[in-house]
Amino acid sequence: MKELEDYNWFPEFLRSEQSEFIGQMAIKSGIYHPLINRLKISDKIPEKLFDLCAGSGIPGQYIFEKTGKFETLTLSDKYPVNVDVKEKVTYISESSDVLTMTYNKDHCYIMLNAFHHFNEEEQNHILKNCEIAGAKLIVVEILEPSILCFVKILLTGTLGVLLLTPFICKMSWKKFIFTYLIPLNCLTITIDGLISVLKSKSVKQFKKQFTKIPHIEVERLNTLAGPSIVIEL
Ligand SMILES: C[S@@+](CC[C@H](N)C(=O)[O-])C[C@H]1O[C@@H](n2cnc3c(N)ncnc32)[C@H](O)[C@@H]1O
Repeated sequence: MKELEDYNWFPEFLRSEQSEFIGQMAIKSGIYHPLINRLKISDKIPEKLFDLCAGSGIPGQYIFEKTGKFETLTLSDKYPVNVDVKEKVTYISESSDVLTMTYNKDHCYIMLNAFHHFNEEEQNHILKNCEIAGAKLIVVEILEPSILCFVKILLTGTLGVLLLTPFICKMSWKKFIFTYLIPLNCLTITIDGLISVLKSKSVKQFKKQFTKIPHIEVERLNTLAGPSIVIEL
C-alpha cells in the first residue's frame, strides 16, 4: 500500500498543494517543538542540517530557523517541489532517493513525518546506511496507529483543508479551484493521510523492530497537538 504522492504519475500541482498544507499544519500545531528543544540542547551535533523527504521544505526550514544552531540546511526529496527557500538553505532540484543516496557524517539528517512511507526492510536499510556512515539521523513520526489519529486525519483532510487553507497557505486561483470547486486537494490529502495512519507504527512496534540496532533511542513525546515518536541514531 503506497500513498498517492509516492507514485510517479501523481500530478506535480497536487503534490505541491498537499505538501504545503501538511507542512503548514504541522508547524502551526507545534508538534515539532520537542524536536526543536532537543536540537537546541544537543552539543555533539554536526553543523549542517539535512532534511530527507523534505516535501514542501516548510517544516525543515522552520526547524532550521527556530533552533538557530545550524550553519546550513539542505532539503531533498524523491519528488522535489518548486518552493522558495530562505538564506543558507538549498533545495536539491534533482530527485534524491533516501534508499540509494550516500550519507555523510558531517550532516545531521532529519526525516519528518515520512518514515511510514517505507516498509520495515527499507526503514532498517536507511538506519543501517546512516549507521555505517557514522551519520546522525533523527526521525520524527507524527502519526500513530490509533482510532483517534485516524479520526483526526480524516477531519484535517476534509474540514481542516476547507476551513484552514486560506489562513495557512498561499492562495492562488488554482488552489481555490482545486480546494473549493473541484476539491481534489481534500480528496488526495485525506486519502494519503489515512493510508499513512494505516502504515504508521506505535512506539512499542518501533522498539521491537530496532532491538538489534545499537545506540538507537526511541521515545514518545507529548505535545498539545498530539504525540510524536522520535527515533534518534
Ligand atoms: C508526508 S510527506 C512529508 C514531507 C515533509 N517532511 C513534511 O513534514 O511536510 C513524505 C515525503 O516523503 C517523500 N518520499 C517518499 N519516498 C521517498 C524516497 N524514497 N526518498 C526520498 N523521499 C521520499 C515524498 O515525496 C514526500 O514528499
